[in-house]
Amino acid sequence: MSATADGKPVLVSGATGDTGRATVRESLALGLDVRALVHKTDARSQALTGLGAEVVVGDFLDPNTLRPAMEGTRAAYLCYPVSPGLIHATVNFAQVAKETGVQTLVNCSQRSANRESASPSSRDTFISERVLDWSGLDVIHLRPTLFLEWLQYFWMLPKLQRGILSMPVGKGTSSPVAAEDQGRAIAALLLHPEKHIGTTIPLSGPVEMGHEQMAAELSEALGRKIVFENPPMEEYAAHLKEAGVPPYGVAHITGAMVDYQNGAMSGADNNIEELTGRRSMTVGEYARAHADLLNGVSR
Ligand SMILES: NC(=O)c1ccc[n+]([C@@H]2O[C@H](COP(=O)([O-])OP(=O)(O)OC[C@H]3O[C@@H](n4cnc5c(N)ncnc54)[C@H](OP(=O)(O)O)[C@@H]3O)[C@@H](O)[C@H]2O)c1
Repeated sequence: MSATADGKPVLVSGATGDTGRATVRESLALGLDVRALVHKTDARSQALTGLGAEVVVGDFLDPNTLRPAMEGTRAAYLCYPVSPGLIHATVNFAQVAKETGVQTLVNCSQRSANRESASPSSRDTFISERVLDWSGLDVIHLRPTLFLEWLQYFWMLPKLQRGILSMPVGKGTSSPVAAEDQGRAIAALLLHPEKHIGTTIPLSGPVEMGHEQMAAELSEALGRKIVFENPPMEEYAAHLKEAGVPPYGVAHITGAMVDYQNGAMSGADNNIEELTGRRSMTVGEYARAHADLLNGVSR
């Protein structure tokens, strides 16, 4: 039996991505019926079917594919990746939500959403929040800080496996947050959005820290020495390009790192615990849970 009286499913977009996948799993765990919007079918979408979600294929940039995905759902998680087209995707999503009578949108924004940012993604994210505010829909904006998944991203992991936490963040601080913990909060909001409509909720891990401290915590958790490296921005941009990050991603990361140096990612909150009854994990807890990958051990 569905966890909601109307029995309508919730829609999770970006469902094969980090927060989407966690949201599907946690929504099902709360007893919600879940429709998962994926970009294409593959092993990742099959895994969602295996969990019990109804999988539909669609493209944020084609509203005619969003309509069948949204039809009959009660609330939706909007999660567009860091790539060009966010404002276009947001407008399509909001329009189709209005056409299909979806009541509530939980919007994945970002902590550094800011119209003055050097990052095109952070600027577009700020404007997308405003577009959703005009839409008349019941909207909740989430502003997560740095994801702990950064430790696993393809431009970070090889260096981390060699003992280097390389990020041009200077003395910037954050309390990084795992996608898994965000999924619990998003599922709770999809189930009971009522008290949060019209709010902007920061999401973070439990402990704010600089990157020297993060390297020390990683060293302890992984059982080997990790050192923090703060490369010049041009050097980091060259590293990103060489690793294969597309130009928009390079522009976002380097711009967001400047925001980070200036305090945009700082602060810690207990919103995940408030929403779900369980606190978000620390850097050390995350590293222990993913130690084989972060240490480059294959089993
Ligand atoms: N990483 C951070 O530190 C951080 C911090 C704060 C906020 N954020 C925000 O988090 C969001 C990304 O979340 P995430 O990391 O959970 O996502 P993600 O892992 O990047 O996954 C994005 C998902 O969107 C799908 N997708 C891409 N283009 C699509 C399209 N045109 N139509 C339909 N689906 C499409 C992808 O499918 P395919 O892979 O099949 O294309 C993928 O499943 C961004 O908005 C970012 O601003 C990130």
